[in-house]
Amino acid sequence: MTLHAAYSPSLVVLSVLIASVASYTALDLAGRVTAAHGRERLAWLAGGSLAMGIGIWSMHFVGMLAFHLPVPIGYELGRVLLSVLVAVAASALALVVVSRPHVGLPALGLGALCMGPAIAGMHYIGMAALNVPASMHFDPFLVATSVAIAIAASFVGLALAYHFRQDESAGGVARRLASGLVMGLAIAGMHYTGMAAARFDTPGRTGASVGGLLATGQLAIGVTLGAMVILALGLLGATVDRWLRQRAELAERRQQSQKLEAIGQLAGGIAHDFNNLLTAILGNAAFVLASTPVDDPRHADIREIERAATRAAELTHQLLAFGRKQVLKPTPLDLNATLAHTMRMLTRLVGEHIEITVVPDPALWDVQADPAQLEQVIVNLVVNARDAMPEGGKLTIETQNVTLQPGSTSQHIGAPAGDYVLIAFTDTGIGMDPATQDRIFEPFFTTKGLGKGTGLGLATVYGIVRQSGGSISVYSEPHRGSTFKVYLPRLAEPVRDASESAAPAAVSTGGTETVLVVEDEEAVRQLAARTLFVRGYTPLVAHTGEEALRLSEQHPGPIHLLLTDVVLPRMNGSRLAETLLATRPDLRVLYMSGFTETAIVHHGVLQPGTDFIQKPFTPHALAVKLRDVLAGVSGRR
Ligand SMILES: Nc1ncnc2c1ncn2[C@@H]1O[C@H](COP(=O)(O)OP(=O)(O)OP(=O)(O)O)[C@@H](O)[C@H]1O
Ligand SMILES: [Mg+2]
Repeated sequence: MTLHAAYSPSLVVLSVLIASVASYTALDLAGRVTAAHGRERLAWLAGGSLAMGIGIWSMHFVGMLAFHLPVPIGYELGRVLLSVLVAVAASALALVVVSRPHVGLPALGLGALCMGPAIAGMHYIGMAALNVPASMHFDPFLVATSVAIAIAASFVGLALAYHFRQDESAGGVARRLASGLVMGLAIAGMHYTGMAAARFDTPGRTGASVGGLLATGQLAIGVTLGAMVILALGLLGATVDRWLRQRAELAERRQQSQKLEAIGQLAGGIAHDFNNLLTAILGNAAFVLASTPVDDPRHADIREIERAATRAAELTHQLLAFGRKQVLKPTPLDLNATLAHTMRMLTRLVGEHIEITVVPDPALWDVQADPAQLEQVIVNLVVNARDAMPEGGKLTIETQNVTLQPGSTSQHIGAPAGDYVLIAFTDTGIGMDPATQDRIFEPFFTTKGLGKGTGLGLATVYGIVRQSGGSISVYSEPHRGSTFKVYLPRLAEPVRDASESAAPAAVSTGGTETVLVVEDEEAVRQLAARTLFVRGYTPLVAHTGEEALRLSEQHPGPIHLLLTDVVLPRMNGSRLAETLLATRPDLRVLYMSGFTETAIVHHGVLQPGTDFIQKPFTPHALAVKLRDVLAGVSGRR
């Protein structure tokens, strides 16, 4: 005679609930195992498998207890324990699979093909532990179906766990909860299909021995409570681990930026002093060159000096940028336009083996930045992406408005809360290991061979972005590509200044005006005076502010322009300019400096309407700038 089976509805619901909580915990623990390394990872793997395995098993066992026959039901303890072991082993397998750095579809499939039968195995071992006065038969079709469901549920579970393991965003918890519920239902579906596959007939007897556990309501409650405590411990552990890890990351970030700060100070200081020297080298080389006939053998030698000095000037400029000591000329600008413009230049440089996709946000906020410097940022990041994809690949550049909320996200990025414009560069290149990532912003750090990279690209980018009030973050895994995210603060009120772009290029570099040159560095002073003199100007030369005032008083004619160093002993350049302007209101002023923390430049940002030439400069560059200022095409009118 076939015994009629019935289910206790409340225990069925309870079993689904346990399955869902266990699934949620599993998704959460997968992230912890992934984040940990070495021994810590092993510990998480062990603890995670135990919690998850016991969770899955409890679901199964409560599901068994929900099952009623019109005869008393007992469980053989040995087989019950074996089913627990199998559940823990299946969980360990799952966690190992999803916490590997990169898991493709085949790996997920293979994992599911192992894990599904393991869970089904746990289930049927559990059924074999049944001790009832009846014989048990299975419907092969339903058994096969239950195994298939187990494999499918495992596949979905593994895929979700892999997907969620690094998701620490606010929505991550909700998504994990929803997924946990779906997975819980799938696992329960497998279980009850397996139960339905069994038929019990009398006379007969299942199980090897009499006794063991007796199926009672109390047992169900006991198992549920036990499982819930273990799962709760797992979740608590995961939460504490996450919190500790975040704090450690924050501390590391702070240390990292302090380190870069210190190197920046050093680099900026050296670069500043070198600028005066290079101005003299470049200038004097230009003079000698001008007085040496082209067929003179020395001509080529001097050209060599010029070339080397120019290269040195480029290097010091990059160091200044890294040390946040270059002078920025920020203007309100539309990052999308700058990006489009720069990309037009870059496409040829990048080559056809790389597919570039630009995804601009049409409603992008304006930023306040130096357009030339921003171009430099874009060029450096794109060239790095190209170098990371020698075999070709994809580069995606996106712009987006982002509001950083106070709290963990903004701290993680290293920027204060507020509105930012984000520009993200994602490549599918070789990626970086954590050790490399730690050092990429250091000047002269490069993994490219000798003579290929200077290692100044990202250092420059870092300096420019930080000096512009922004922040840069990188996410990368070896062989999986990299994403660089640059955050620039949103410009509060967009005021367009058209004068800058309307500046026409100066043609002539000579003139007859009188120029007062004030510079305490002997070599630079002489160079400037000579540059002016050979181009027809009348230079008046002073080496301090006081001397300049005296010269101005004694000079009966007009003085058209004041060319002054910003940093001077006692009276600085801008004080001098103010004093002179009081008596000579038509005077135009051109500042020169290699330094940034001064009266006219606050934190490296030039005050609007100020004319400035960055040291080192060539005589030609000085002459061009001078003409511009005298013609009134830039700066103060
Ligand atoms: N997109 C990327 N993918 C992988 N590695 C990168 C990427 N961008 C930078 N790197 C790593 O960071 C290092 C430093 O980059 P950086 O731009 O500062 O110097 P570089 O490119 O080596 O030389 P330079 O830019 O001065 O020519 C690189 O050598 C490389 O190892
Ligand atoms: Mg580079």
